[in-house]
Amino acid sequence: MDGKKSQANGSKDAAAEAGHVFTGIPGLDKMLGKGIPVGSSVLIEGGPGSGKTMLCLAIASHYCKTGKKVLYMSFEEPEKRLVEHLETLDKNAKKYISSDLLRLKRFNALDVARSVEALLSEAKKELLIDVNPVFFPTDFKPDLVLMDSLTSISSAFSGEDSRFRIYMEQLFRYLEKENISSFLIREVANPSHTGRQGSELGEAVSFLSDGIIIIYNVLHPGGERGTGIEILKLRGVAIERKIVKMKIGMDGITVYPNEQIPSGCTLT
Ligand SMILES: Nc1ncnc2c1ncn2[C@@H]1O[C@H](COP(=O)(O)OP(=O)(O)OP(=O)(O)O)[C@@H](O)[C@H]1O
Ligand SMILES: [Mg+2]
Repeated sequence: MDGKKSQANGSKDAAAEAGHVFTGIPGLDKMLGKGIPVGSSVLIEGGPGSGKTMLCLAIASHYCKTGKKVLYMSFEEPEKRLVEHLETLDKNAKKYISSDLLRLKRFNALDVARSVEALLSEAKKELLIDVNPVFFPTDFKPDLVLMDSLTSISSAFSGEDSRFRIYMEQLFRYLEKENISSFLIREVANPSHTGRQGSELGEAVSFLSDGIIIIYNVLHPGGERGTGIEILKLRGVAIERKIVKMKIGMDGITVYPNEQIPSGCTLT
């Protein structure tokens, strides 16, 4: 294991324990201990414009660089725009697509919700049914699935949260059975783990996921704005628990594990 050498070129994958993987994001991997267990479902939470999509695209690029297959499911931005964002992070973006390492596909959340609801009513809403998530391509076996975002899917379900929860339980079960790692974006109006009262649509997924990474919009007392990131949970892994600085720049995303967000800042 030559961890030092691999860190020097921005990747810590060689330092990951067997059956674990890293994100490829400098600094974040340092906080991830022995790495993310393969097959884990990790939520990426954050407010509007906090950097959730860019973070997931950076992870997608890292997986493709290491020859792994990635399915990016967008329920929000069109494919063309996502490819453009990805190209700012990785000049090989189009090559990954043409060599079928990366499938970037836009779905309509309402269509998905309707098909799921139809399946659930056929199965009398029982949890025992074993439907594969209806909208996964059948001709592509990904190592990694990214969903942008669960929030769009949950709001497409007609009213009740319970159907979304049933669907999510099945999705998590399917990903686990197929040993597919996943990063699932969840938009939150307010960071949900900083003492805020009340609950948001789709919050139940926090308990189903193996890990949670939160991105914060940071407001410094002097009015300056920045970004913070925290690994809130990762089952089976000793993580560094603190909120640290993150930057999105022309050279991609960087996390600064030694630069904690000072007290006195407001996190939104
Ligand atoms: N190449 C870049 N250099 C610097 N900043 C960038 C770059 N690309 C994107 N950003 C910034 O990153 C921010 C986060 O964008 P992103 O789309 O990832 O947020 P998001 O959390 O997915 O937002 P939403 O909730 O609207 O989906 C943007 O506001 C933009 O200012
Ligand atoms: Mg986004």
